[in-house]
Amino acid sequence: MGDRAATGGFDPSGIDIDAWEKLEQQLEETIPNYDRVNRLMTFGQDKRWRRNVRNHAADGMKVLEVGCGPGSFAEDLIGLDVTCLDPSSEMLKVAKKRVDAARSSRGEQPAHYLEAIAESIPCEDDTFDMVFCLFSFRDFQDKKKGLSEIYRVLKPGGRLIICDAGKANWLHGLGGRIWMATVVQWIARFVTKEKNHPWKGLANTYTQYGTNGYYRAMMCEVGFHDVQGRLLWPFLMSSRFRATKPKQE
Ligand SMILES: C[S@@+](CC[C@H](N)C(=O)[O-])C[C@H]1O[C@@H](n2cnc3c(N)ncnc32)[C@H](O)[C@@H]1O
Repeated sequence: MGDRAATGGFDPSGIDIDAWEKLEQQLEETIPNYDRVNRLMTFGQDKRWRRNVRNHAADGMKVLEVGCGPGSFAEDLIGLDVTCLDPSSEMLKVAKKRVDAARSSRGEQPAHYLEAIAESIPCEDDTFDMVFCLFSFRDFQDKKKGLSEIYRVLKPGGRLIICDAGKANWLHGLGGRIWMATVVQWIARFVTKEKNHPWKGLANTYTQYGTNGYYRAMMCEVGFHDVQGRLLWPFLMSSRFRATKPKQE
């Protein structure tokens, strides 16, 4: 892929395995405070972003959430056949309890759970109507491989919706990095009451993340059509991508 100028020299297409294993450990450490820190650091907008993404699905669809974490998004997927995928057994344990409790309260069947990475999805080709990635794309080991796997498991005409950090260009990225290095750190310290909270390391994934244009180009290379990616209002902190697997390849 292109140059690394937008990320200050880091490679936005992936994360090496040692750094990724450390990242997974830090992500698991966030579990008890995950929702609260997210709510505060986004001024409550994370709920609105999740709703925005969820509204793309239509009743009865077979959907996959890649990187479901503790189930913050999947628990509110109503009237859908849901599969939650995450490489962390700890995350899946929390997600399963939470998502299945919500589904059971609505009289729905439990969701399906897969312990796996986006880069190797243990599903048949052409399985899902829609794939969601909420704040997990940034953490993929190899983003192009992950996108190719998502493309493979989508049905022809199926759609991928990603919501993640927003980075329009270098300057916008610099603003985001300052936000992550200051306000997010203060909030995480306040919530966790710990000096060495996991959000210290998680700020790196934002620094290393590429621009919207970089990932739009990557999605097109993988074969997606109708690729769109834009910042979400009002704070322009996050981006939403939409891409479609063509009906005929
Ligand atoms: C920040 S959490 C996102 C949780 C949730 N989707 C939400 O809406 O808040 C990111 C999740 O992505 C998962 N993840 C990291 N690398 C991944 C990969 N290569 N493939 C799939 N999921 C991955 C992590 O284990 C973690 O649970």
